[in-house]
Amino acid sequence: MPNIAFKRVDSSPDSRFYEEPRFVAHINDAAIAAVTDLYRAYLPPGGVILDLMSSWISHLPPEVAYGAVAGLGMNAAELAENPRLETYVVHDLNETPEVPFADATFDAAMICVSVQYLTQPIAVMRDLARVTRPAAPLVITFSNRCFPTKAVALWHALGDDGHAGLVASYLRESRGWVDIEILDRTPRGGDVLRAVVAKRAPLV
Ligand SMILES: C[S@@+](CC[C@H](N)C(=O)[O-])C[C@H]1O[C@@H](n2cnc3c(N)ncnc32)[C@H](O)[C@@H]1O
Repeated sequence: MPNIAFKRVDSSPDSRFYEEPRFVAHINDAAIAAVTDLYRAYLPPGGVILDLMSSWISHLPPEVAYGAVAGLGMNAAELAENPRLETYVVHDLNETPEVPFADATFDAAMICVSVQYLTQPIAVMRDLARVTRPAAPLVITFSNRCFPTKAVALWHALGDDGHAGLVASYLRESRGWVDIEILDRTPRGGDVLRAVVAKRAPLV
């Protein structure tokens, strides 16, 4: 894809934009409940989970215990307040599109309402496959709400169906993911909530 597709109105370092914590929800309660239901369905209880592009809230089902949950995001204060994270790392995926964990660390991964901010999404999806185990589920959810100055140009050029197709193409192009499915989980009266789910490829 051409570089212009990943240009953003605000091209300053993301560390500046995320310097101050935002203890807010980015989608409404009904859409969050839809995310939690997807996690209930796809993430293995007892597994080691990675919440990529995380903040103070992970939307994991409260009744499910996981082996461990790690978060990666841009704001340390938000991540420190997240009650589901055992560990976290502050890491800018646009500066360094490698996911800073060892090979095959995680049983599952998720990205919630954040994929539109990635400027090198295929590299990130490929490295995300490296740090997950074969057949590990990945749940990527997104809405039509975003920080407009930080979303890539391609995201702005597309509607909801286009977003879903784009995210699926990131996974296909990365060659790290198989069984890619597009879901529409928009709740009645809630924010748009689309998902792309996949399984880590047998070999990456
Ligand atoms: C809209 S918030 C969503 C947070 C959380 N996943 C949720 O569901 O509420 C976007 C998140 O993407 C993360 N993020 C944005 N740009 C990033 C980057 N360049 N590298 C890593 N994380 C980034 C931020 O830390 C922020 O928490």
